[in-house]
Amino acid sequence: MRRSRQIVLALALAVGAAACDEKLTSIAGPTPNLEPTFASLQANVFEATDSSGRSSCVACHTNVGRTPAGGLNLLHDAAYDQLVNVSSTQVPSLKRVNPGSPDTSYLVHKVDGRPGIVGTRMPRNGPPYMTDGQILILRRWIELGAPRN
Ligand code: HEC
Repeated sequence: MRRSRQIVLALALAVGAAACDEKLTSIAGPTPNLEPTFASLQANVFEATDSSGRSSCVACHTNVGRTPAGGLNLLHDAAYDQLVNVSSTQVPSLKRVNPGSPDTSYLVHKVDGRPGIVGTRMPRNGPPYMTDGQILILRRWIELGAPRN
């Protein structure tokens, strides 16, 4: 009896997880493969444009042939160590990414275009900006502790 109840629970959890994944695809909008992992954010947002016409971040945030805009290099080998637990250049009291806390992560403030930011909303040549769904997935990765995954 107890075992069959456990099996039912396991099935319910599996179905629930599948439903969540489906929802993720629908909110990912112009980047249908976007997931809340660092590798996925890097490949679909930082280093790529998308079907909405949004700029890639590395159009400006690169050290190839220039000084990275805002002192932030988002190329693949550098990006994680430039973001997570690193103080913002513009607002040094905030980390660019504060693991577990999207609302105190300056990266989120910049892509949201919040009133307290220095400079402009990112990407600087927007619109188009990141969509609400893309920002939600970025926030989720930070909520999950901003792992190097
Ligand atoms: C057209 C060039 C350009 C693009 C594209 C661009 N940025 Fe920027 N970014 C800048 C410049 C210039 C600054 C500094 C001036 C400002 O903030 O307006 C900056 C500053 C920043 C900062 C603040 C860094 C700090 O430590 O204070 C963050 C975070 C940032 N950008 C994230 C992004 C992200 C994420 C994207 C892609 C979604 C992006 N940017 C796309 C040019 C760009």
